Amino acid sequence: MNPAKITAADIRGMKNRRPIAALTAYDFPMTKLLDEAGIPLLLVGDSLGMVLLGYPDTTHVTLAEMEHHVRAAARAKPRALLAADMPFQSYQSPAQAVATARRLVAAGAEAVKAEGGRAILPQVQAILADGIPFIGHLGMLPQSVLEEKGYHVKGKTDAERLNLLADAEALAQAGAFAVVLELVTPSVAREITQKIPIPTLGVGTSPHCDGEILVVTDLLGLSPGDIPRHVKKHSDFKQPMRAAVVEWKQGVEGR
Ligand code: KIV
Repeated sequence: MNPAKITAADIRGMKNRRPIAALTAYDFPMTKLLDEAGIPLLLVGDSLGMVLLGYPDTTHVTLAEMEHHVRAAARAKPRALLAADMPFQSYQSPAQAVATARRLVAAGAEAVKAEGGRAILPQVQAILADGIPFIGHLGMLPQSVLEEKGYHVKGKTDAERLNLLADAEALAQAGAFAVVLELVTPSVAREITQKIPIPTLGVGTSPHCDGEILVVTDLLGLSPGDIPRHVKKHSDFKQPMRAAVVEWKQGVEGR
């Protein structure tokens, strides 16, 4: 094993010491590349449903699909901590949550992430009691997109602000080592970041978080749909890839 392997405690310890740049990774070559670039936290996110598998949202992603991608990413043996998303409806009770988390760990994940705060606290406590490091996910919850009829910014009302704060505090108290804040208003993200002792990782949230996590294909301009507005700076690798294919095709056809 790599002696400098990054652990959940290392990520937790980065709070107030250095900003955390985290990315998703879904397969062997990308995990290797992002690890070589020095990204300390890689997430096999269920966003793979949209950006790799062609689903309309993350609710279609199965545990078997997550395991398949976690195995591929883990084969890269990254120095980075490799976390995995628990897919939709795979953590509806504490027993189911532990069984799911164990399967992801058996596939090679070193931590798991699930969406929700106090609503899934018994599941979070059971996962942590089983010795599996846990990352929370608050704010806009992609697995609730159908119930919520879209992706909406959270924290705009005082009730939402108080709920987010209470959820973040509950997750930190339970022992989560970091929490993703997705589409949370900048002022609420700042308040949560100041109040909880674990790192906050913003997605389209604000520079006030302890770090940022992005879908890697959004960063590289390779996602099949539109790049979300919150991805301010990204590359466009689709164009050079298309050009390389066309050039090769013309070479073959012109023989
Ligand atoms: O699935 C995912 O990619 C995520 C990140 C955006 C945090 O949950």
